[in-house]
Amino acid sequence: MNILVINGPNLNMLGKRPKEHYGSLTLDEINKLMEENKASDMNLEFFQSNSEGDIVTKIQEAVLGSADAIIINPGAYTHTSVAIHDALEMFNGEKIEVHLSNVDDREDFRRINFVRSVCTKTFSGKKEGSYLEALDYLKK
Ligand code: DQA
Repeated sequence: MNILVINGPNLNMLGKRPKEHYGSLTLDEINKLMEENKASDMNLEFFQSNSEGDIVTKIQEAVLGSADAIIINPGAYTHTSVAIHDALEMFNGEKIEVHLSNVDDREDFRRINFVRSVCTKTFSGKKEGSYLEALDYLKK
């Protein structure tokens, strides 16, 4: 199973962001944790970008390529990006939305969500555990 793990803007700065929302691990440490917790038949590809267009292009490559599933934390683009919504809509495999914080229980603007309707499942509010829950879901 080929899984593309996409992280959006500012997630490369984890470790420096507010720990009460995002925990204390860096993105590299989260990726390492995912590698350690994946099933033996899972192949993980990690991609992070601060650019909306680069994320759209990466999802388009997955649509045309061999990814079986996408785990995506679109960061702030969750709340703004019709383009990421439209790209994810084209992908036929499992699409898992992940957030470190509980986006539904923070500022009102974080309740606006452009990706949830095109994702199969959402895991949020468990800090790095949200990514592990996404992996567990795909294991099943
Ligand atoms: C986030 C939540 C978003 O609202 C925020 O803009 C982020 C991270 C999360 O993982 O909790 O950058 O997606």
